[in-house]
Amino acid sequence: MKIGIIGAGNMGAALGKIWAKAGHQVIFSYSRDENKLRQLTTSAGETAKAGTPKEAVIQSDVILFAVWAPSLEEVIHAAGSLDGKIVMTCVSGLKPDFTGQTIGLPTDLKISVAETIQQLAPNAKVVEAFNTTFAEIIASDSRQFGDDRPSIFYCGDDVEAKKVVADLIGECGYEAVDAGALIVARSLETLATAWVQFAVASQLFPNLGLKALQR
Ligand SMILES: NC(=O)c1ccc[n+]([C@@H]2O[C@H](COP(=O)([O-])OP(=O)(O)OC[C@H]3O[C@@H](n4cnc5c(N)ncnc54)[C@H](OP(=O)(O)O)[C@@H]3O)[C@@H](O)[C@H]2O)c1
Repeated sequence: MKIGIIGAGNMGAALGKIWAKAGHQVIFSYSRDENKLRQLTTSAGETAKAGTPKEAVIQSDVILFAVWAPSLEEVIHAAGSLDGKIVMTCVSGLKPDFTGQTIGLPTDLKISVAETIQQLAPNAKVVEAFNTTFAEIIASDSRQFGDDRPSIFYCGDDVEAKKVVADLIGECGYEAVDAGALIVARSLETLATAWVQFAVASQLFPNLGLKALQR
């Protein structure tokens, strides 16, 4: 699979490396530091390369948005047409001081980051995922917690796109849990904010995994 990473920071780098090492062709893009992009590409292995956001989109079937919410419009402009592409987003509206969200519930905007992306790119197949896990865990050699695999909730409106994202979640060592339609992103992004706040308040950050128990 060809995967374009937009945002080569904590999340983009950690996830992109896993997928590149699993044999996917990964293009890292959108960093203010060319050197960082080069180093990331080298450490991710032979199936990884660097490019512009536009190149990452044109050359890929699946795109990961791993940027900060205030950059979203600029990023979507830089990415060009997302028509027909599967767009995974882990972007949350979390404020830098973790006190709440700049977008999504419980603000007046009553919409999520994922739905904002869908509005800006109406022909993309947007799927929210990876919001309730920490990049430090994704980047660590052992992503599991003993025999337990943390759950990753994902949501979106396109059934086929969700299947692709569920497989990519599984390849990262997580249990993919379908949380429903894209509108659920409002709740998932709020859950992600609560999760970060809990991790910080409990002083357990980042050594936490969220798990949906089944019986
Ligand atoms: N970190 C986590 O554990 C985690 C977990 C779940 C969800 N998220 C969400 O995922 C998103 C990305 O988080 P992150 O921790 O990966 O962030 P990050 O490390 O700061 O990465 C953001 C990326 O965007 C790039 N960028 C390019 N232009 C930028 C600009 N003008 N301003 C800011 N960044 C710019 C950064 O460039 P440089 O390379 O030059 O810095 C960096 O590569 C956020 O929405 C966050 O809420 C994060």
